[in-house]
Amino acid sequence: MQDPKRYTITAALPYTNGPVHIGHLAGVYVPADIYARFQRLQGKDVAFVCGSDEHGVPITLKAKKEGITPQQVVDKYHAIIKQSFEDFGITFDNYSRTSAKVHHDTASEFFKKLYDEGKFIEEVTEQLYDAEADQFLADRFVVGTCPKCGNEESYGDQCEACGTTHNATDLINPKSAITGAVPTLKETKHWFLPLDQYEPFLKEWILKDHKKDWKTNVYGQCKSWIDDGLRPRAVTRDLDWGIPVPVEGAEGKVLYVWFDAPIGYISATKEWAEREGKDWEPYWKSDDTKLLHFIGKDNIVFHCIIFPSMLKADGTYIMPDNVPANEFLNLEGNKISTSKNWAVWLHEYLEDFPGQQDVLRYTLTANAPETKDNDFTWADLQAKNNNELVAIFGNFINRVTVLTHKYYDGVVPAPAAFSEVDEKTLAELKAYPAVIESSIERYRFREAQQELMNVARLGNKYLADEEPWKTIKVDEERTKTIMYVALQIASALAVLSEPFIPFTSVKLKNMLNVSSSPSTSSGQAKVENSIKWADVSTNEELITPGHTINKNELLFSKIEDTQIQAQLDKLAASKLANEIANKEVTPQKDTCTFDDFTKLDMRVGTIIEAEKMPKAKKLLVLKVDTGIDIRTIVSGIAESFTPEEIIGKQVTVLVNLAPRALRGVDSEGMILMTEMPDGKLVFVNPDTSTPLSAGSDGVANGETIN
Ligand code: MF3
Ligand code: ZN
Repeated sequence: MQDPKRYTITAALPYTNGPVHIGHLAGVYVPADIYARFQRLQGKDVAFVCGSDEHGVPITLKAKKEGITPQQVVDKYHAIIKQSFEDFGITFDNYSRTSAKVHHDTASEFFKKLYDEGKFIEEVTEQLYDAEADQFLADRFVVGTCPKCGNEESYGDQCEACGTTHNATDLINPKSAITGAVPTLKETKHWFLPLDQYEPFLKEWILKDHKKDWKTNVYGQCKSWIDDGLRPRAVTRDLDWGIPVPVEGAEGKVLYVWFDAPIGYISATKEWAEREGKDWEPYWKSDDTKLLHFIGKDNIVFHCIIFPSMLKADGTYIMPDNVPANEFLNLEGNKISTSKNWAVWLHEYLEDFPGQQDVLRYTLTANAPETKDNDFTWADLQAKNNNELVAIFGNFINRVTVLTHKYYDGVVPAPAAFSEVDEKTLAELKAYPAVIESSIERYRFREAQQELMNVARLGNKYLADEEPWKTIKVDEERTKTIMYVALQIASALAVLSEPFIPFTSVKLKNMLNVSSSPSTSSGQAKVENSIKWADVSTNEELITPGHTINKNELLFSKIEDTQIQAQLDKLAASKLANEIANKEVTPQKDTCTFDDFTKLDMRVGTIIEAEKMPKAKKLLVLKVDTGIDIRTIVSGIAESFTPEEIIGKQVTVLVNLAPRALRGVDSEGMILMTEMPDGKLVFVNPDTSTPLSAGSDGVANGETIN
């Protein structure tokens, strides 16, 4: 859309059943924030809205699991999530929640209008029912095999493996997620949005109008759904958590969460407009508004097919201009998973890296999963910080500000005549705003950020080539010119960096003692030391001779290997905890009688000699003092212990085991061992300092191994 009058920017409402992690930030909130900040800098009228998605089955499941009410669940996570967004500088104009009254009212009215206008199909159908739980099963209350791809763990409404949405009754072998019971069918009345009726509209609007400007991943998914044929979709549910269906004869029924949640964008806009004394309607109903939905790829169908059909059914709303959905971010090679605790939680990151929000924002944008799934690694975060933020951006700013203080007591010098290099450098600088802008307007945030970094590279190269630290000894005028040019680049960085690394931008502006102000189309008078985005590309002096900059401070600091290792250790601990939780425990063997047991003669012995069995990888030949004698025992532990480390160890020995020849050596007994959850072998010994005594849950199966 050319030159919209205002922007309505939405970011997917996060489910309030857990905190937010780096995947959320990378896929949705950082790109949306870059976009919103950028448009505000251009002086555009922006409503950037989001809020907590507080209905739906995942929340009731979480409440059941924790033994608290759904309201308690959402209150807890709404607060945590809201705080995380603030901490990471996500500049929502409003962060609302779907349990708010304004939302209940808005969503009810939306439904009521469509209902009154006969836009729904009302139908009694058979739905899955869990007799044990006395509850209908929809959405995430039911798991089964996906009819499309065969994934055995598909949810009732959506398969995470192939992305298709379906009705719960489509699942093969459905099972209740509450009781595990096989559901029966029971009749119930629901309201359906006949998506099939919107097919012609969707074909025209998406397949024709947006073939070129929507991302290929988004367009492709839409096309495949439309080509598959759309079917009526229930927009109500038999549940007690949600927005009551506002019509008669719908007791005990609520709006489907995916019906109410996107309306949350509208409610959040209303709430904001009321607070600001504005009219909300142009932001949703005026043709000169650019409406954008920032989401992750699992949300595409809801934002491109279902919600637009709802808006179309109403008839008074505009359609989104674009839905720049991202793919997924993995973590150290594995899918991010809340239940497996395989994630970097934002609130935990801040505890470990206080004040370093921009490092994460920068790394996530540099690796944004814009066109394919991508991987976050801690080593990469360290490299991005140390080799780019510290070594390029930070280094340049540090040189400029330190030298300005050293040579001129912090006062910007007046330049003499520009050399060819100066002219060229300043000309190059002027080209950047348009380049960055063009990338942002095409939702290519990684590319945009790379261009920002190129501005810092330009500055570094300029200083390295012109060497003011050398010219200062021979040519004062030349040095002033060099420093003047470098200070222009530093000032440009202070403004151009704002959408990407906003905390750094603030620090840098403070250091340079400048501010930024939104560009406006009308020629407004220049405010002293206030820089607009557009100034960077004009002949405007960004920072003027005679202006005094503030004290120097470091923008970034090096991240050490030990900090990275600590994060990797944390992940390894999650992995281990998961393995323990999922490990198949060897079933108990058949019962043995007390008489059987008394046949075993077990004693504590001491290993007095140990050596490797020649040509046998696994075997050690031990001499063990059992208290009654010294005997030879061949033990299969050579891969876990060296002979040296076990000499002198006390161990438990089964001494009356029938002797057996192993590779020609008679073995007279068995050393008792147990295997730890991580596969490590340890002795069953009387020494209480071994890991074995640390807790019985550490022992996976206690099977003895000789
Ligand atoms: N809560 C959903 C999710 O996390 C997103 C809802 S987006 C909205 O996948 F449009 F419904 F608000
Ligand atoms: Zn599937």
